[in-house]
Amino acid sequence: MKGVLVREFRPFAEVEVTEMPDPSPGPGEVVVDVSAAEANYPDILVIEGKYQIKPPLPFSPGKAAAGRVSAIGPEVDGIRIGDRVAVQVEYGAYAEKVRVRAESCFAMPDGMPFEKGAALGLVYQTAWFALKDRAGFKPGEVVLVLGASGGIGVAALQLAKALGAKTVIAGVLGAPNAEVARRAGADHVVELSGEDLRDRLRAEISAATDGHGADIVIDPVGGEANAAALRAMAWCGRMVIIGFASGEIPSIKANYLLVKNIAVSGLQWSDYRDRTPERVREAQTEIFDLFSQGRLDPYVSRVVPLQRFHEALAALRDGQAQGKIILSVGGGDT
Ligand SMILES: NC(=O)c1ccc[n+]([C@@H]2O[C@H](COP(=O)([O-])OP(=O)(O)OC[C@H]3O[C@@H](n4cnc5c(N)ncnc54)[C@H](OP(=O)(O)O)[C@@H]3O)[C@@H](O)[C@H]2O)c1
Repeated sequence: MKGVLVREFRPFAEVEVTEMPDPSPGPGEVVVDVSAAEANYPDILVIEGKYQIKPPLPFSPGKAAAGRVSAIGPEVDGIRIGDRVAVQVEYGAYAEKVRVRAESCFAMPDGMPFEKGAALGLVYQTAWFALKDRAGFKPGEVVLVLGASGGIGVAALQLAKALGAKTVIAGVLGAPNAEVARRAGADHVVELSGEDLRDRLRAEISAATDGHGADIVIDPVGGEANAAALRAMAWCGRMVIIGFASGEIPSIKANYLLVKNIAVSGLQWSDYRDRTPERVREAQTEIFDLFSQGRLDPYVSRVVPLQRFHEALAALRDGQAQGKIILSVGGGDT
């Protein structure tokens, strides 16, 4: 099979698609012929050896994919050859075949294209756990999503809306990104660049919520936006730290936490995948159900052939990606 092969940790521009051995499934595992793989910002960190989990060399990157089951190992029940599935893995999805634990394989609803199945992977899972697990989301709450035009951002906006948020506010950079956030269901959009962000953000969110503030802040951005969002929170608000797309890890001012009884928590989604697969299945079932009901739909802004994966990762690195970029892999089976 062909796949992206990382022989040593290095810049992704120096990594190529190459011929490599087909995987075979061990006990409790299946092999899936990949039709679509999700390109994610963390893939860059994994390839460069800067991610918290370093795969054993050599390896293929890629954390989520969709395709058809082509081989089944011993001790696997309920999965058949040819099943259309979405899968989640620590690495390995940037290839024509991926080996995956059966418990991390999810049957796709009828009629769901593989691109959408792959796009409903890592970022929707992360947004679901951020909202429902870390933030304890309740219908009727106000949710502020930073980096709202990106992968996590669009997923969090759509999920918060679909789960019954009263008001969903998107924090974005620039007018084109504001449009993406509106299309994803944002009730209000706030600009995260420019002068006086700290005071302006608090004033705009107060005005948008009749003085209430944000019950929940979903933050994949960090930096200045994080500090400003903290000041815009409601009493007993919950902030979830997901990533640092701005490149700056924020320092949280503890006095804000004390004054408004605010809780700040971190989220590392892959731990849920490995420690509580049954909750990940619960999340994927709800995400697929919401898709089938027409209540959320991933925004796939570009589909790029696997051979040109560099383009997808460069767009993510350079802030040129909106919603999701998907890699088309293999025969493009439907
Ligand atoms: N904790 C976890 O389990 C987990 C899971 C998945 C991802 N992550 C992390 O979450 C982060 C975001 O992932 P993603 O897939 O959403 O990435 P993405 O698609 O590249 O989106 C990043 C978003 O942040 C915005 N942004 C960048 N710099 C900013 C700044 N200085 N101020 C305000 N907004 C800024 C971007 O806007 P522009 O496009 O205009 O630059 C974009 O909307 C990454 O750091 C990733 O590693 C963590």
